[in-house]
Amino acid sequence: MAITLSTLNKMKQQGEKFAVLTAYDSTFAHLASAAGVEVLLVGDSLGNVLQGHDSTVPVTLADMVYHTQCVKRGNQGALIMSDLPFMSYATEEQTFESCAALMRAGAHVVKLEGGAWLTESVRKLTERGVPVCVHLGLTPQSVNKFGGYKVQGRDPAERKALIEDSIAAEKAGAAILLYECIPSDLMQEIMGKVSIPVIGIGAGNSTDAQVLVLHDMLGATTRKPAKFVKNFLTGHDNFQAAFAAYVKAVKDGSFPGPEHSFE
Ligand code: KIV
Repeated sequence: MAITLSTLNKMKQQGEKFAVLTAYDSTFAHLASAAGVEVLLVGDSLGNVLQGHDSTVPVTLADMVYHTQCVKRGNQGALIMSDLPFMSYATEEQTFESCAALMRAGAHVVKLEGGAWLTESVRKLTERGVPVCVHLGLTPQSVNKFGGYKVQGRDPAERKALIEDSIAAEKAGAAILLYECIPSDLMQEIMGKVSIPVIGIGAGNSTDAQVLVLHDMLGATTRKPAKFVKNFLTGHDNFQAAFAAYVKAVKDGSFPGPEHSFE
C-alpha cells in the first residue's frame, strides 16, 4: 500500500519510527522502497554525490525535476519528497512555479531549507495543496553563510531560535520537519513542542524518523564520512539486505547510537 502523509502521521501516533533514504535514480528507488524505506528523499545532495560539487549550491531546478522523474519510475509505494534547490524559492512566484515543477515530476512533498523567513511561504503553499517539509539546523544551501558544515543550535540564542522556528513552521502548516546536525538534547526538547512527524540526521534518536544519504549508507564515499553516518552494507552482501538492515535499525531505535550523535 502506498505511503502517504496520513500513514506517517498514524505511525507517529502509534510510536512506530519510519525510515527515509535519499534516492536519485529509478533502480535504487525501486530497491530501497521494496526493502521497506517509507520515504525517498530526492535530495539536492545529488550535487555532491552525483555531480561532484563541493556543495548543493550549484544544483538547479531542472536537475531536481529530472531526478524526481527517475525516482518516480522506480518507486514501489514510498512517499517521494524532493528538495527545492538553492534560490528556487527566493520569491513567492518562483516558489509556486518551482513547487509545481517538482510535483508534476512526481514529488508528493517538497522540502525547503530555512527558518522564520519561510513561514509565509509554508502557509501559502499549504493553502494551495503543496505539503511542505521544513529543513532546519544545518541547512547545507547556507554553507557559505555558516562558513562550513557545522553543528547548529549549540549556543542559547541559536537554541531559542530553532525552537521558535519549529513551532512557527508547524503553525504555518508544515507537514514534516527535518533537523540536520543539532545536539540530541535540543532535538529532544523540540520533540516535546511539535506534533507533526520529525526526521533527523545527526540529531540523535528521539525523532520519529531518520534519513541518510544513499551513498553514505552504502559506504560509497570518497571523503571521511560524517559522524552521523553508518555504513549498512558492512556485513551484508547486497544492497537490498543493507536497506532492510537500515529500516530495521531505524525502527528498533538502534540507529543512531550515541556515537552518531552530537551532545
Ligand atoms: O539533500 C539531502 O540529501 C538532504 C539530507 C541530507 C537531509 O537534505
